[in-house]
Amino acid sequence: MSAKVLWHFTMSLDGFVAGPNHSMDWMEGLPPRPDLVREYVEALGAVLGGRAGWDAAIDEARPYGDWRGPIFVLTHHPEDARPADGVTFLNCDVAEAVRIAREAAGDKNVEVLSPTIGRQLLERGLIDQIDIHIAPVLLGDGIRLYDNPGGKPIRLQPNATVDVRYHPLDATTRLP
Ligand SMILES: NC(=O)c1ccc[n+]([C@@H]2O[C@H](COP(=O)([O-])OP(=O)(O)OC[C@H]3O[C@@H](n4cnc5c(N)ncnc54)[C@H](OP(=O)(O)O)[C@@H]3O)[C@@H](O)[C@H]2O)c1
Repeated sequence: MSAKVLWHFTMSLDGFVAGPNHSMDWMEGLPPRPDLVREYVEALGAVLGGRAGWDAAIDEARPYGDWRGPIFVLTHHPEDARPADGVTFLNCDVAEAVRIAREAAGDKNVEVLSPTIGRQLLERGLIDQIDIHIAPVLLGDGIRLYDNPGGKPIRLQPNATVDVRYHPLDATTRLP
């Protein structure tokens, strides 16, 4: 498999990848898919993210728990970023950030774990693939996968048409 720039998220059915204030508690209790996680981790060479996601991450939290590869975080003010091992803060053009992350990733994938940066890269034709796992939850508020008011639709080549069907859980069994 050749190295890709992958926009990869778990997303609520209504299109949010984080709740209000970057909350991620809605992902708790989702059924684990260890085989799927392993597949992504084995192919992962570097992560490119944004400053808001980094600031919201708790302590030394890393993507996929114990993955320890290079992480690049885009910010306009790297001087006041919370430093951490393996994390490089970049203040450069997004295309240059991708070039740096690709070089670090070698023959593995770069995962873009930021809606904001993913949007910028899509506009520049720099995303190779979008992988989304739809979580069985409606959030109603938060950070959208793709937020671009006034922007043009971006047409995608699907692997397949996706049809999903859900039944609301009753109030006593809803996720927190
Ligand atoms: N559901 C999932 O699977 C999943 C996975 C990963 C992350 N997430 C969530 O995604 C959310 C990320 O939110 P987000 O997209 O709103 O924020 P973000 O991309 O993490 O951060 C936005 C910030 O990144 C910096 N930035 C963006 N583009 C830049 C550029 N071209 N040059 C320099 N700096 C740039 C700016 O920081 P400055 O203001 O410092 O300049 C900007 O304010 C987080 O809540 C995270 O938890 C969800």
